[in-house]
Amino acid sequence: MTTLTVFADTDPQTPLLHTDDFDAIQAELAAIGVPLQRWTASEQLAPDASSETVLKAYEGSVAALNAKYGFQSVDVMGMHPDHPQAGEARQKFLAEHVHHDFEIRFFVDGAGVFYIRKNGKVYMTECTAGDLIELPAHTTHWFDMGPRPLFKAIRFFTQPEGWVGHFTGDAIATRFPAYAGAAA
Ligand SMILES: [Fe+2]
Repeated sequence: MTTLTVFADTDPQTPLLHTDDFDAIQAELAAIGVPLQRWTASEQLAPDASSETVLKAYEGSVAALNAKYGFQSVDVMGMHPDHPQAGEARQKFLAEHVHHDFEIRFFVDGAGVFYIRKNGKVYMTECTAGDLIELPAHTTHWFDMGPRPLFKAIRFFTQPEGWVGHFTGDAIATRFPAYAGAAA
């Protein structure tokens, strides 16, 4: 289930808001310039569906988004707990960073958390299957896929270097609750 927990960026102990109401989450994120929407697959996807099958199932939605942004490439990536690089993958974007391009991700399956820092608050956004989130360029954030990462996502790129992380050097991510993984 998609959830949002909002904290003051100086107080990781006391949530100002916690909700699993999708409309409320969408409104909170819209207010900080982060679009969140839900996509529906045109067919039921098997857990081991190929990238081609996944992209086909979301063809209309991907095409509409592509018409808006003009992506250079769209791909599907997945992570699972037994992947040899699971720990390394988790570490990669676990510290606060920005990108010079927007980061747009669609969760086909599984879950992960974007921590978005904006206007003195941290928006801990747990994205789950069906969620499309768009972080505008230069949005300060970090991403936690949890200690046993499990997700499949469609990634969209407008520049080859779009997803290079520029780290802020702020250790804020270490002060906030890590993602334990999706609730069973
Ligand atoms: Fe990022």
